[in-house]
Amino acid sequence: MIKNKTAVITGAARGIGQAIAKRLAKDGFATAIFDIIPRDDVVENLKVIEDIGNPMLYFQGNLTKADDRYAFVEKIKTEFGRIDILVNNAGVAPRIRADILGMSEESYDFVMGVNLKGTMFLTQIIANEMIDMVGKNMLDNPAIINIASISSYTASIARGEYCISKAGISMLTSLYADRLADEGINVYEVRPGIIKTDMTKTVTDKYDKLIAEGLLPIKRWGYPEDIAKAVSVFASGMLSYSTGDIINVDGGFHIRRL
Ligand code: NAI
Repeated sequence: MIKNKTAVITGAARGIGQAIAKRLAKDGFATAIFDIIPRDDVVENLKVIEDIGNPMLYFQGNLTKADDRYAFVEKIKTEFGRIDILVNNAGVAPRIRADILGMSEESYDFVMGVNLKGTMFLTQIIANEMIDMVGKNMLDNPAIINIASISSYTASIARGEYCISKAGISMLTSLYADRLADEGINVYEVRPGIIKTDMTKTVTDKYDKLIAEGLLPIKRWGYPEDIAKAVSVFASGMLSYSTGDIINVDGGFHIRRL
């Protein structure tokens, strides 16, 4: 078993996940990254994490495939021998934004399959492994951190499947927090607002305009590093008497205003 605490991060080949992996590597964690993008296409992104100097493992897999989920966890057990933190970050937006009255079943299955079902069942495998490791006194402040969204509670009728998937993630946070408290594993959630990544590239003008018009109390886009800092707080073990808690990283979007 390696000496470093180990953080597993899904969807960390780019964007918010990559920033989280970088932050946690700086915090001293070994990182195990699961992403669908072939390694050769993200060599530069991974180098940034590797260059910090702690062990890093990259596994190319599809979160919707059970075999890939199991193979990933086996690889971590072989190479690192422990899992202290799981960050459920991988997610997709609908390929086409369509009114809920015209949403296709294909788009629903695609978004729900990655964002909710894949996350639910990877969490199940890793939670069971963590319980086993806690029983052997191998872990110190283990935690699961879900990356949800303001879409957990905000209705966007042109991407309903995304909103449903993120509302589901927020329920996963509550369910696993309740189930795992007795096992010594805390569960948290980060709710990003409007963050500059590949996911929001196609809607830059729309959000530039909304932010300029005053949508957010803090009048700027969020950046992947903003999310990574919140994850770092949850992963630090400093909140060990809190579980099921949420940090909004949204420039104040969640505040009801008049
Ligand atoms: P992104 O598209 O840049 O990154 C998502 C990552 O997940 C990619 O590396 C992608 O390859 C990976 N991924 C997608 N499908 C996968 C699959 N089937 N198996 C394994 N990996 C897969 O997006 P971004 O913005 O970095 O999003 C990260 C998380 O943050 C997502 O869960 C997203 O819903 C959430 N979020 C993003 C916001 C934003 O404004 N960008 C706002 C709120 C939440």
